[in-house]
Parts: sequence; structure tokens; C-alpha cells
Amino acid sequence: MGTVTRGTTNPNRLRRMDRWIAAVHGAELRRADDPVAVDLGYGAAPWTAVELLHRLRTVAPRARVVGIEIDPARVAAARPYEREGLLFRHGGFEVPLDRRPLLIRAANVLRQYDESEVAAVWQRLCARLAPPDPAAGALGGLLVEGTCDEIGRRHVWVALGPEGPRTVTFATRLGSLQRPSDLAERLPKALIHRNVPGEPVHAFLRDFDRAWAAAAPYAAYGARQRWIRAVRDLTADWPVTDGPARWRQGEVTVGWAALAPRS
Ligand SMILES: C[S@@+](CC[C@H](N)C(=O)[O-])C[C@H]1O[C@@H](n2cnc3c(N)ncnc32)[C@H](O)[C@@H]1O
Repeated sequence: MGTVTRGTTNPNRLRRMDRWIAAVHGAELRRADDPVAVDLGYGAAPWTAVELLHRLRTVAPRARVVGIEIDPARVAAARPYEREGLLFRHGGFEVPLDRRPLLIRAANVLRQYDESEVAAVWQRLCARLAPPDPAAGALGGLLVEGTCDEIGRRHVWVALGPEGPRTVTFATRLGSLQRPSDLAERLPKALIHRNVPGEPVHAFLRDFDRAWAAAAPYAAYGARQRWIRAVRDLTADWPVTDGPARWRQGEVTVGWAALAPRS
């Protein structure tokens, strides 16, 4: 299900997303008997799937990755890279696997679809995630859907559980940042058209820019200290769900409900 779109990708482009997934979802992957992760829409070359496997295995040694692409030529091109723990399959949003995965990562895929299609695609993908198992203390699968620039310096993604959207994460290389709203051009499809006055995501980026400006004196200690200070200020008005250990990486994660489009 879906349509073939441009296959642009780059080695190491999704490192920020990979590291975040390993940090927040590693325990869930580690405890599973057969932790399967899907790299949906890996593009014209299989680099991002290879790297996802590598980074997940640092926290969950039994992790497996299945790269799924809707363009059969891209599947054929990736097959020579198959190895233990890494497979490539033809398919789309139906996620053609015989077990429900613990992770579906869709990076730079929905950006090329229409905004009106996003909710249905999210629903479909969330329904394919491994369900929670409260008796075993398992939270279930995670869908990570977002967008980044060509070399992964600016990245924004939404994380969803089987029940729906949970959080939005902004991640950037701090050395190249003029102001936090530079990230606006990488908002995921569900939010990019909502960066206008009256919408929560616009108010968030406005407040973030103000906090960044107020934190200018911290620039003397480096962009990292300035970012940490600005995010700390933001926590007064916005439901920031992570802490300094992630902020140090040039990240901040906010509850989805606070940024969700008004209509
Ligand atoms: C811009 S590339 C992104 C590649 C890689 N994920 C990255 O971020 O570097 C988007 C890819 O998604 C694929 N795609 C689009 N819709 C899809 C779908 N419904 N299921 C699987 N792949 C899809 C396209 O064929 C294309 O190769």
C-alpha cells in the first residue's frame, strides 16, 4: 500500500533517530524473544537499514531488521546486502510480515504524501505494531515517523505507540543552529503545514526562539549549554518529557497533545 516516491538517502543520515530509538526503546527490544524492527521506505540504497541494525544491536543483541520498500527495483538492489539479522522485502504500509514488529521506522517517507493521508497511514501502521502485554510489563511496539535534511543535521519525528501519537522530538547538530525554528523546515508532514499563527507547533517554536534568545549569555560556554538552558526555560510552559541527558545531545521531546494540530 502506498506509492513509489523519490529514493533519496545518505549514509549516516538517520543517526540521531537511530540513537534516540536505541535509548528510549532499547529495553523493550532487549526483553523480547525475537525483536523485529522495520525500516519502511529505506530508499534507493540500503544504508539506513544496515545502520539501524548496527545501532539496535548495541542495546539489543538479538534485534533483527527488515527493510521494506515499495519500489521492487530498490528491493533487488538491496538484496546483496542481506546478512544475518537483515532482510529486504517488497511492500508498503500493510507491512507484510508474519509477526507484528516492535519497531517501525519511516523516515522521509510521508513527507512526499498529502497531509490528508497521514492520519490513516499512522492508524494502519500503529495497528501493525506489537501490542502491549501488561502481564509481561511490555509496552508494545513503537512507530517513529519523521523528516530530516540530506545529511541528518536537523531532524523532527513523531513517536507513536499502538494507541496513537505520544511525543514529538526535535534533534539537531547544535553547531549549525541559528535558532530553534530553523527546524521548522523539517517538521513531519502532520505538522509542517501547521507552522502558522494560531497553531500549537507555531507557538512552541516561537517560545523556543525566545528562550534561545534569552539564553544567549550561555553561548559563551558553547551551543550545548545554551540549548540546555533554553529547554529548561521551555519546561515552564510546555510538557517536555525528557531530561538533560537527552538535551545534551541537541534534542528535546515534547508530549504530542501539546503540539497536535487544532483541527
Ligand atoms: C526519500 S526516501 C527515504 C529513504 C530513507 N528512509 C532515508 O530517510 O534516507 C523515501 C522512500 O520511501 C519509499 N516509499 C514511499 N512510500 C512507501 C510505502 N508506502 N511503503 C514502503 N516504502 C515507501 C519510496 O519508494 C522511497 O524509496
